[in-house]
Amino acid sequence: MNHKQIINDPKIGNKAEAYEAFDDIPTNPNLNRTLGDVINARYARRDMLRGILGVSASASLFGSAALIAPSATKAAPRAPSRYRFDELTQGSDQTHHIADGYDADILLRWGDPITAQAPAFDVMNQTPAAQLQQFGYNNDYVGFTPLDQSTTRGLLCVNHEYTNEEVMFPGLGRQDKQDFKGMTKALIDIEMAAHGGTVVEIARNSLGKWHLVRSSAYNRRITPLETEMTIDGPAAGHSRMQTHADPSGTAVIGTLNNCAGGMTPWGTWLMAEENFHGYFWTNTRDFDGKPDLSTHADAISKRRYNLPSGWYAWGKYHDRFNIDKEPNEPNRFGWVVEVDPRDPQSKPVKHTALGRFSHEGCETTLSRDGRLVVYMGDDNRFDYQYKYVSTGKVDATPSANASLLSDGTLYVARFDADGTVQWLPLVHGTGPLTSENGFASQAEVLIDTRLAADALGATPMDRPEDAQPRGDGTAYIMLTNNTRRKPTQADAANPRSKNTFGHIIEIKEADADHAATTGTWSILVKCGDPAIAEIGAHWNPETSDSGWFASPDNCAFDAEGRLWVATDQGRKWDKTGKSDGLYALETEGELRGHSKLFFRCPVGGELCGPCFTEDGETLFLAVQHPGTDGTTSLKGFARASTFEDPATRWPDFDPAMPPRPSVVVVTKRGGGKIAT
Ligand code: FEO
Ligand code: CA
Repeated sequence: MNHKQIINDPKIGNKAEAYEAFDDIPTNPNLNRTLGDVINARYARRDMLRGILGVSASASLFGSAALIAPSATKAAPRAPSRYRFDELTQGSDQTHHIADGYDADILLRWGDPITAQAPAFDVMNQTPAAQLQQFGYNNDYVGFTPLDQSTTRGLLCVNHEYTNEEVMFPGLGRQDKQDFKGMTKALIDIEMAAHGGTVVEIARNSLGKWHLVRSSAYNRRITPLETEMTIDGPAAGHSRMQTHADPSGTAVIGTLNNCAGGMTPWGTWLMAEENFHGYFWTNTRDFDGKPDLSTHADAISKRRYNLPSGWYAWGKYHDRFNIDKEPNEPNRFGWVVEVDPRDPQSKPVKHTALGRFSHEGCETTLSRDGRLVVYMGDDNRFDYQYKYVSTGKVDATPSANASLLSDGTLYVARFDADGTVQWLPLVHGTGPLTSENGFASQAEVLIDTRLAADALGATPMDRPEDAQPRGDGTAYIMLTNNTRRKPTQADAANPRSKNTFGHIIEIKEADADHAATTGTWSILVKCGDPAIAEIGAHWNPETSDSGWFASPDNCAFDAEGRLWVATDQGRKWDKTGKSDGLYALETEGELRGHSKLFFRCPVGGELCGPCFTEDGETLFLAVQHPGTDGTTSLKGFARASTFEDPATRWPDFDPAMPPRPSVVVVTKRGGGKIAT
């Protein structure tokens, strides 16, 4: 499908769905190297045909506990779940639900004033100036850093990934379907002001309830409309980073499509720039209606990054988003941005050393010798898993860590069929990354990270979303889905063709050292309904009908080191009958691969965050785009949502208010650690 066909597909109800469908168009030229030979190399075809795969391959790929087929008789639980709560029942309706014994309170909603001077939210009279002082749209990553070692006061850092104009603005409808005829510069500037991020101080009262401290000097918005940022690292200043507004190639306004993220050990906030290609525009199209890149010297690079995709009309009013006028501006997006939330005057920094791609997240940990390690997925079909290892070690003095994200080595993963993972360095002059192959410098390797990773032979994955490392040398990789994988493209690490429901890979780095350049991998779960044999799901057999999930996306560890997974099924929730939610997923012992539902979203929302405080007593969750995804499947509603007619008006349920993306705070009734 091309751009226009996707926009006009009646099954696609909103921009998020259109984005996902558009990203179905693979740009990776290396796909023919992942033929089914890979899996056959490990499990000889004759063994597969004899059905031996079920035992030998599953045992090595899934570990011993999670290999029982869904039809197997359920045995009595052999060990109690490490997550102590009574499982919530699956379903889908207009509001959110939490397991018994817990409160899930609304903490921050789109439009809430976050500074002392901010005007009250007036949804019928929105302005860019007001939105710049109000909580942004589509909250995704949530990070928390305590102030003064306090457990009752801290800074919440929240990404605002994108906007849904059809439920934000009265009378407008979906703009990408109608060539943005209704969009004005004022509306576009509101959209830009609703993107980016928010830092707010929050505090916990004597009853254990959290609230916004609106008068705090820490509170700030970061937006693509006006926040100045510095570009640093090997690509800073390169000619491909230079524009008319910034001949130095070292200064840029704003950040785009900030999806997941991370906090550093020294308390700074990392914002990952994901689908930046969607914000760039062209007036120049070829005979097929595709962008005409014939005058662009870096057309190969632009095609590999799906540029320009034109999902927003910002380029009609802001020249820097029009590649006909500023061909280099897209090179200044797709990076990891570091923000110091403790210094509200600080300029965020885009760190080019961590590579340029659709960064889903950037969760950090330490190597055995104290260097910083960052795990990062490139959320595109058939793209790659990365990690970054700093050259220097993390210091107890925060200011001494300023160069750790500027000087280090970026690696991309190759998942071999023998169960090992090789981390391949993206270093200029190493292997194929030479001038003869089009990489003239480390700056070019980083600006064209995807092309460099192609050259290294990394493994094309089923959309790597969040990746979460744990201090013991383990990391979990959320692979959300990839319905475009053909049977001949199945490999050991992405074993299902037409992978509708996704899977999770566990990596154990060599010597339990996150800086290792090799390790082993296994599949923790293959998602989807275990009762439908054709889906080929793998869960611990103790998992209930409410407990299995589809499309793992964001994830986090709690204070006990236990894994929690948030889901984003998009419009595919009609295939599971469940809203997106938060699941407790066992990684250890006899219950490895066992999942339990803890929280579920209102219809049409995806669940982001999650973020636990260090004391384990508070969990922050982000409900993104409530009322939008797949509402044509909601019985009794069965149509696409608009501002005037949404599938839900969560969380206000005010007839004058559309649904509002919101951060939810979960605490245990009566106090105490969650799920203990
Ligand atoms: Fe913004 Fe890959 O989810
Ligand atoms: Ca995500």
